[in-house]
Amino acid sequence: MAFLFNSDAARGAVFREVFARELPDLEFFHCSEEVDPEKIRYLITWTVPDDISRYRKLEVLFSIGAGVDQFDQNVVPNHVKLVRMVEDGIVRMMQEYVALAVLALHRDLPAYFEQQKRCFWQPIAARQAAERRVGFLGLGMLAQAAIARLKPFQFPLAGWSRSEKQIEGVTCFHGEDQLAGFLKQTDILVCLLPLTERTRGMLDAQLFALLPAGARLLHVGRGPQLDQTALIEALDSDRLAAAMLDVTDPEPLPENHPLWSHPKVMITPHIASVTQPQTAARSVVENIRRHRAGEELIGLVDRTLGY
Ligand code: NDP
Ligand code: OXD
Repeated sequence: MAFLFNSDAARGAVFREVFARELPDLEFFHCSEEVDPEKIRYLITWTVPDDISRYRKLEVLFSIGAGVDQFDQNVVPNHVKLVRMVEDGIVRMMQEYVALAVLALHRDLPAYFEQQKRCFWQPIAARQAAERRVGFLGLGMLAQAAIARLKPFQFPLAGWSRSEKQIEGVTCFHGEDQLAGFLKQTDILVCLLPLTERTRGMLDAQLFALLPAGARLLHVGRGPQLDQTALIEALDSDRLAAAMLDVTDPEPLPENHPLWSHPKVMITPHIASVTQPQTAARSVVENIRRHRAGEELIGLVDRTLGY
């Protein structure tokens, strides 16, 4: 019985060490090594390997990231469990990034960076945090962690999810019927949704039109959720005041793409949160232990919902 690590060698070395200590009875292979495919029960990877059908005894396919949209589920046999990454490192990094970006949007950083390019010194009237409503599309693991980190700043906090939620200090909306009501009361919109059929392209002109004039967007979900042309139009017409994008479509954007140089846009190269090998290895070990004990897996993907 074996585990196959199908990603970079540096993180693989950390996983190997943790596995040797915590699961000494499970053989460990890096994808660069010769392996008997019949031995593989567990596989961690970013995308589904082309030769997945070789691993006939595969039981669990782990994503090395929090998202699973990059998995082509059609080629993964139905009996194989899909598990997304749930680990402290990825959560902490997302908390930092969302706090940084929400504060940057709240305090007009994109506008100040633009002024700096023109050697222009001009304060912009500041709003109190208590008057800036921050709303999250998605109330999952990462959004809830980010919300917890934002609480001390006193922004009014809200979120929208598929199923109903109750989170202390957060106005919770759910379902399609409540989306418009959520958007109407959101000054900084944070997208932390998984990419699914429903969420593809949902940040579009219609959605922007429901936000209060001058709202700001922080996009940390997936590039294809955003209609980039609609975003540019919304920024140019002052419907939106600014956007911070950690994800784009494609990644990276082509050199001449207007978003690169848009005066109201700040872009980071999909670095909001990155799987940290030490904590990730421990979380995968725990899931293998649970799998062997017949317990529920943490981060198990509902294959009908796609996340
Ligand atoms: P979770 O699965 O924990 O949470 C997803 C949330 O989205 C849930 O609240 C879910 O609702 C909600 N949701 C999904 N579909 C819909 C829908 N149709 N309508 C309303 N709400 C919906 O995911 P995570 O928090 O772990 O991660 C979220 C995403 O963040 C990842 O899928 C990935 O795309 C992105 N990400 C980006 C990173 C970056 O560096 N930029 C790093 C890591 C992740 P419900 O609770 O009801 O199920
Ligand atoms: C992830 C990501 O899904 O880095 O983990 O986007």
